[in-house]
Amino acid sequence: MSESNTILVEIENAVATVTLNRPTKRNAMSPSLHLEMAETLEKLRYEKTSRVIVVTGAGESFCAGMDLKQFFVDLKDNPPEFDRIFRIATEWRFRTLRYFPKPTIAMINGYCFGGAFSIVEGCDLAFAAKEATFGLSEINFKHYPGGSVSKSLANLLRPRDALFYAMTGRTFKGDRAAEIGLINAAYPLAELKKEVMAVAAELATKDPDALSAAKDAYRFSLEMSAEAALNYAAAKSDQLSMRQNDSWRSEGIGDFLQGKYRPGLAAHKSTDK
Ligand code: ACO
Repeated sequence: MSESNTILVEIENAVATVTLNRPTKRNAMSPSLHLEMAETLEKLRYEKTSRVIVVTGAGESFCAGMDLKQFFVDLKDNPPEFDRIFRIATEWRFRTLRYFPKPTIAMINGYCFGGAFSIVEGCDLAFAAKEATFGLSEINFKHYPGGSVSKSLANLLRPRDALFYAMTGRTFKGDRAAEIGLINAAYPLAELKKEVMAVAAELATKDPDALSAAKDAYRFSLEMSAEAALNYAAAKSDQLSMRQNDSWRSEGIGDFLQGKYRPGLAAHKSTDK
């Protein structure tokens, strides 16, 4: 079944808010939603007015995971199409978001189940409503956190927490999600958007190339030996100098040395591109 408008995009003050838009289905990820999300991220990657991406859900849910009917049942007898959608679904959550050149923030406004954990983990930062309900519900329908979800759990959570929630399927709220490190912080739902937009606005003041380098250096270092990570960081620094025309040295450090600002306390101002 092909649907449209499963993803909404609104760009304001350099922040692109990307909304999963199937509220009557609790924003479960249908094949159409995956295709639209992949296209959306491709456009936002090169779009010039947005510097930060916020991913959230329409209505009372963030995302109820994979669309259990449209993905697991309807495509059961169509292995090539199942494979195509599975690849795209994995790609945007596990690779595109993770290595996106702009900072990405998950704003979890409500239900967050199963495959939605990979959105949360794929984003650089995550904030939830205290009222939000999280759960690895797979075990409750006789399955397990498959696809990219188990690796997302392994990337973020302590072993005891990952296995406890994967094996019991018990739900937990925003405060607990913060406590176990799945998200950065939880706020009352009424304050969530304001808090997230404040972080997004702060990120939008930083140098975009430096932000991208910060992400890459962290993400790729996790997968490297210490020696390879040091070598990569040195090469990344040269790449950053080239992309910025060395402005981190000339302006960033230069203006500090002239007493114009204190980088310990605030960002350099002339970061617009
Ligand atoms: N896949 C397909 N349809 C879904 C999904 C889903 N993951 N989640 C909700 N829906 C649909 C329901 O079938 C229902 O459709 P209908 O109105 O056409 O009957 C509609 O969304 C509303 O769902 P309700 O259950 O009526 O809503 P409620 O607010 O009471 O409960 C909840 C919401 C808790 C999210 C519940 O729908 C649920 O348990 N969903 C499944 C969660 C889940 O296990 N997700 C899969 C994780 S595994 C994975 O991602 C690989």
